[in-house]
Amino acid sequence: LPVEAMARASQAALDGFGSTMLEYGVNAGPPLLLNWLRKRLVELEGGEVASDQIIVTAGNSHALDLLITLFTQPGDVVLVESPTYHLAIRVLRDHPVELVTAPADEDGIDVERLAALVQQLNREGKRVRALYIVPTFNNPTGLSLSDERRRQLVELAATEGILILEDDVYRELAYDAPAPPSLWQMAPEGAVARMGSFSKTLAPGLRLGFLTASRQIVARIVDCGLLDSGGGVNHFTACCVAALCEIGDYTLQVERLRATYRSRRDALLGALQERLPGEYRWPTPAGCFFVWLRLPAGMDSSRLLDVACANGVAFVPGRRFYLDGNGASHMRLAFTLYTEDQLADAAQKLGQAIRLLTPCP
Ligand SMILES: Cc1ncc(COP(=O)(O)O)c(C=O)c1O
Repeated sequence: LPVEAMARASQAALDGFGSTMLEYGVNAGPPLLLNWLRKRLVELEGGEVASDQIIVTAGNSHALDLLITLFTQPGDVVLVESPTYHLAIRVLRDHPVELVTAPADEDGIDVERLAALVQQLNREGKRVRALYIVPTFNNPTGLSLSDERRRQLVELAATEGILILEDDVYRELAYDAPAPPSLWQMAPEGAVARMGSFSKTLAPGLRLGFLTASRQIVARIVDCGLLDSGGGVNHFTACCVAALCEIGDYTLQVERLRATYRSRRDALLGALQERLPGEYRWPTPAGCFFVWLRLPAGMDSSRLLDVACANGVAFVPGRRFYLDGNGASHMRLAFTLYTEDQLADAAQKLGQAIRLLTPCP
C-alpha cells in the first residue's frame, strides 16, 4: 500500500486546494480528478469519455448500490452472471429486486441462452431491468468475456432496455496483455454503466472510485438526494488522490503491482502444477487476484475447506459465487497478498489436505 505516496499527495493537495478541500465538494467530484481519469481511460481503452459522462463514487460497492437504488423499481428482475463476485450478491440482496442467474458456460455469460431467458421473463410479465457482470478479469475466474460475446451482450441490452452494471474493478491489473475494451466503450449510449475503483490499484481504505455512463444516468446521480445533501463523495480523499495521480505516483504504483502480482500468480500456478493431483484444473488468470480451481467430478470444495484449514491453508468455496447453490466443484485461491515462498507453502499444504481427504486407493 502506497503510504509514502499518500503522505506526499495529501500535503500537495492541502497546499494546492487549501480550505476548499474541507468544504462540500462539487457533486460530480473534483474536476482535477475527473480530467485525469478521462485521460487515463483514453490511454487504457482508446475511446473518449465526455466530462458529463463520468462521476466520482465511493468505490464499486457504493456505485452498485446507488445504481440499483436509482434505476430499479421494487419487483424488477436483476440478472446476475455466474459465477460472480460474491459480495456484489450481498449488495443486490439489500434491494427489493428479484435476482435471476444469467446462463453461462466455461467462457462466461451465454448471450443466446440469456436472450431466450429474457423473452421468457418478459412473457411472465416481469421487467428485466439490469444485469450485473464482471466481464474483464472476472472475480472469481480471472477470465474475460470474448469480443464476440461482448458485442452480442451490449446489443441484447440495448434492444431489451436492460442496463448493464459493468464491474470493471480489475482493468488495470492486466498481467499478460492489455485488458479488452469495456462494455461501456462498445455500447450505445445508455446501455451500460461501468464502475471503476481505486481499491485494487491504490488502497481499499480510500473508498474511492468512479462511474462512466450515459449523460442521462450521470445527471440523475449528480442530482440525487444523497449528493444534494452530502456533496461530492469522499471529497477530501478525492482531492488527495487527484494530487497523487498528477504527481505520477499512480502509474508507478500500478506498474509495481502488475510486476509483483504477475510473479506471485506464476509462483502459485507453478506450485499448484507441482503439488496438486492431475485431475485438478484451473485457467490461467490474465488479470485480477484469483485462481479458480476445478475439483474432480463429485468433490465438494466445502468439505475440503475444514481439512485444509486444519492443515494451515484456506480458500473460498465455489458455492459462494453463485446465486443458486451451484459451484461446489470449484474453489477460489487468492495470490496477491502473499510472497512467492508463502504461496509455494500454501500449494503444498493444499495438496496434503487433498490427499488426506481422498487417500490413494
Ligand atoms: C469484482 C469486484 N467488485 C468490487 C469489489 C469491491 O470494490 P470497492 O472496494 O471499490 O467497493 C471487489 C473487491 O474485491 C471485487 O472483486
